[in-house]
Amino acid sequence: MSLRGPASEPVSPVTSDLAFVPQASAIAREAGARLREFLTQGVATEYKGDVDLVTVADRTVEKLIRTRLSETFPDHGIYGEEGTRERLDQEFRWYVDPLDGTTNFAHGVPHFCVSLGLEKRAPQSTPDQDGQIVAAVIYDPNLDELYTAEHGRGATLNGRPIHASRIPDLAESLVSTGFPSRKRHDNPNIHFYHEFTLRSHGVRRAGSAALDLAYVACGRFEAFWEFNLNPWDTAAGFLLVEEAGGKMSDFAGRSFQLNSREVLASNGLIHDELVGLFQAMFAGRDIAPIPTPQEFAARRAERSPRS
Ligand code: IPD
Ligand code: CA
Ligand code: CA
Repeated sequence: MSLRGPASEPVSPVTSDLAFVPQASAIAREAGARLREFLTQGVATEYKGDVDLVTVADRTVEKLIRTRLSETFPDHGIYGEEGTRERLDQEFRWYVDPLDGTTNFAHGVPHFCVSLGLEKRAPQSTPDQDGQIVAAVIYDPNLDELYTAEHGRGATLNGRPIHASRIPDLAESLVSTGFPSRKRHDNPNIHFYHEFTLRSHGVRRAGSAALDLAYVACGRFEAFWEFNLNPWDTAAGFLLVEEAGGKMSDFAGRSFQLNSREVLASNGLIHDELVGLFQAMFAGRDIAPIPTPQEFAARRAERSPRS
């Protein structure tokens, strides 16, 4: 039997009496349809900084989601990537990424999604105190794939239960990562990319952190890591991974926090191995030597016949 298995099981759909997921799913579907329209018509791209892109689609769709969430859940707070900050002192707060994968979108690459994660906070919390993620919706409008989770009730893809993979080691794994869109030269991730590439079936850099996490949840990827993500990138994906039987932490294996600058998600089975590799690499150990371009060129020159 394949340890990776099908993305979703051929069983009857989960009957849903979930409190937030059905309405949030309808909002994510409407938002995703709008993104598809923008993709078809083509939109201009602006820079927020470095290689951090934004388009009219990001802003328009965040506004749409803000309107719909406020109509549907008038008491809930909203924290969106494109600047929405509403009712953040409330018990429930939505983390909204209206378009995760803007760089793909801006280049016409159909790999992006809408991500909505719902946090529930203790009654006396101050606005800066985090709570628990209790509901998640990620929608990929290009593949019409809707990922959902509600705390304690498992995760689904298009209504069918999903599970993280059962692959037990990194050597048999397909993993993914992303690179920060700001201060990229001040970040060591290319070294981790190199090392994980040599030790696994491969590292995908597909351009949507929320979909990377959804892919860990449904067993397509065994793991995902990234530096410097934000709560709107990770809130929904975190719950999907955990409800699908996976695990998410920082690079030292400590429990994941919404404001964490380090995200390491896995199927759970390879988590300790990954944390061990991160620790070894941060300590400067266990790094596989590869030739520099100059060393490679020198060897190539030695091998090529001289005239
Ligand atoms: C980005 C994507 C990308 C990740 C970047 C994020 P955005 O989000 O998730 O995969 O590598 O760090 O900023 O800007 O497309 O919403
Ligand atoms: Ca994002
Ligand atoms: Ca975004």
